[in-house]
Amino acid sequence: MDLMEVMKARRSVRKYRPDPIPEDIFKAIISAARVAPSATNAQPWKFIIVTDEELKLKLINACNGQKFIAEAPVIIVGCGLPDEAYATVGGYMNSFAMDVTIAMDHLILAAAAYGLGTCWIAAFKEDKVRELLGIPDDVRVVALTPIGYPNDQPSKESRKDLAELICYDKFE
Ligand SMILES: Cc1cc2nc3c(=O)[nH]c(=O)nc-3n(C[C@H](O)[C@H](O)[C@H](O)COP(=O)(O)O)c2cc1C
Repeated sequence: MDLMEVMKARRSVRKYRPDPIPEDIFKAIISAARVAPSATNAQPWKFIIVTDEELKLKLINACNGQKFIAEAPVIIVGCGLPDEAYATVGGYMNSFAMDVTIAMDHLILAAAAYGLGTCWIAAFKEDKVRELLGIPDDVRVVALTPIGYPNDQPSKESRKDLAELICYDKFE
């Protein structure tokens, strides 16, 4: 699949088969995150790869009871390192969340290219994820995703019309 096809094919998958992900494929997917751009090329991220069954089950509670995340063989927890990131995007914002999100999206699209399912998880309690995975205070949890072979073919979610997304020359 070319990139446009992969982007169109990706869906949020909420049912997974337990089948393991072949090591070479998993490495390729993680490598996609590695090549992502970041402000000042700081690469202010760490991806925690959770495969321990007990920990995966405990993460359900930290993710507001979203049970399907533990069906997948792997849960990836995308963490940001604010102290290493560019501090003033636009003069007002630390870049870590942006940087981690771009890298996670690389990873998620790479997974889709290999026929693997993912689902952005932002409904989580940071303190609970932090406690379960021993994440230090200066590291922020940005998003999680399960990753595994889909056990479902989710339908296509609607999108705004293109005309609604864009304007020319001035904000309208
Ligand atoms: C930042 C972000 C957070 C999300 N958090 C959750 C979540 O916690 N649980 C969930 O089931 N889906 C979550 N989603 C998935 C969205 O519901 C989904 O992307 C949207 O409905 C469009 O569907 P699609 O991904 O299949 O195209 C999240 C998506 C994004 C981008």
